[in-house]
Amino acid sequence: MKLTEKMNYSLRGYFSRAKRTMAVNCLQFGDTGKGKFVDMFADWADIIVRCTGGDNAGHTVIVNGKEKIFHLIPSGIVHDVNGKINVIASGAVIYPKTLIDEINLLQSEGIPCSNLKISLAAKVIMPYHILLDRLSEAKAGSGKIGTTGKGIGPCYADFVARRGISINDLLNPIIFRSKLMKNLEYVSRLLKVYQPEDIDVIMAHEHLEFGQYSDYQGDFNIEALTKKYLVYGEILRPYVTNTDEFLQDEVGRSNILLEGAQGYLLSVDYGTYPFVTSSDCSVQGLMKGAGLEMEDVEMPFGIIKGFYMTRVGAGPFPTEMGGEESERWCGQAGAGAEEKKLYAGSDINDPNEFIQGIAIRRIGHEYGATTGRPRRTGWLDLPLLRHALRSEANQIIMTKLDVLTGVKKIKICHSYEYQGEDYVYGNKIIKKGDVLSTAIVDPYFLYNCKPIYEEFNGWDEDIREIRRFDLLPENLKNILKYIFLEVEAADLRIISVGPGPEETIFVGEYELFGDEDE
Ligand code: IMP
Repeated sequence: MKLTEKMNYSLRGYFSRAKRTMAVNCLQFGDTGKGKFVDMFADWADIIVRCTGGDNAGHTVIVNGKEKIFHLIPSGIVHDVNGKINVIASGAVIYPKTLIDEINLLQSEGIPCSNLKISLAAKVIMPYHILLDRLSEAKAGSGKIGTTGKGIGPCYADFVARRGISINDLLNPIIFRSKLMKNLEYVSRLLKVYQPEDIDVIMAHEHLEFGQYSDYQGDFNIEALTKKYLVYGEILRPYVTNTDEFLQDEVGRSNILLEGAQGYLLSVDYGTYPFVTSSDCSVQGLMKGAGLEMEDVEMPFGIIKGFYMTRVGAGPFPTEMGGEESERWCGQAGAGAEEKKLYAGSDINDPNEFIQGIAIRRIGHEYGATTGRPRRTGWLDLPLLRHALRSEANQIIMTKLDVLTGVKKIKICHSYEYQGEDYVYGNKIIKKGDVLSTAIVDPYFLYNCKPIYEEFNGWDEDIREIRRFDLLPENLKNILKYIFLEVEAADLRIISVGPGPEETIFVGEYELFGDEDE
């Protein structure tokens, strides 16, 4: 059955009328199960676009019945056979090796990738970006961001500092060499503060192609680096084009799906800076990354998880189950594998929230697709959601609701009590004991906020078989009503009750508060 045939009246109208541009973006810290919806909407789309970020993202795609993790290629590529076009747009940063590995893997599975377009203006992640990312994290101590180590920050930093190397530069050996030489001079100065042995160890890493670019004295093998990247350019050449112009011309002519990466609260512009990624992963950022304008996108969908949240890496997370203990635990190398052994029998109703958080993480499979790290787990935070909804997608998709089945008490954070020293916020002063309903995303502020919760009874019924909103357990519907009354500026449109595409409920326009729209 086609996707639109399963939808309710209002959504079907949207999807079946004229050609449109749609964005699907996460409103939290990423990992909200976007892949399922990108995959579903890819059925509707003619063009699927990855707009920002790089191989720090990871999504699982089913290729010929086998699960594969992709980092760069839009998940719509498996629909390539139907003639859909997949674009990696100008706002993205590309580590050529990852992209070429993904293309090779797809081709070996009989997916030709002939409809893949790569922006000539996308920025190239160079080995020194990865090296600098990893060195600075290794030496950062308590200031660690917990990056994915994929060189994302240094690559975007070079671009903003006007040193960036674009994909098109890889097709022009003279230009490439001259930019590279200048950049390497600069990088050598930066590397002087590190020990050559520390550099060599990182350069020998698998992701840096086992030391191919290293001279094993703490410096680069420039010849090897230049040669390899020019070869990469040649391999990518058939896909490289001006995707900005292509997409601008297709608005109104084709159905375009803009696929978000990471999430609003990790946006360098709107997130919990500096504990963010280095791209603007808001809908505005997606538009810009694709070379489009905000008015081009008609119905931005924002994704949140059902009643819990996760965060990977360091940074404030007021509702985290187990608080600091959880942040510390999840930040340790190898914690993912360790907790699967140590906490195999953890209970989702354990009175110790640290353990309860682990149990929820295990049921929700909340381990990084890119790094395998355990995702810190906490309750749904409405002050952060209100912050996101001020400028972001307000057509809500709520995912993973089945994960909390069986949890006796579900807590929703509706506001914060500030507990720090006087905090000057522009022309306001926030004092100890003040209550705020919308988050200020400064980490100092968030680390000093105590969440105030409303507590609800959970449900025990298996909801994965339910396909109609009115058949959901009353307790679950009460929580949904509470949330959408609290946040006001958002409409609940779709609920996901399991990972499969059929485990989806389309919510009528007035259904949440009583009136059916059909
Ligand atoms: P970077 O993007 O590797 O520089 O990492 C910066 C921050 O963003 C870290 O806290 C990462 O854990 C987080 N991050 C980056 N990509 C993702 C993602 O796809 N999902 C969730 N968190 C991410």
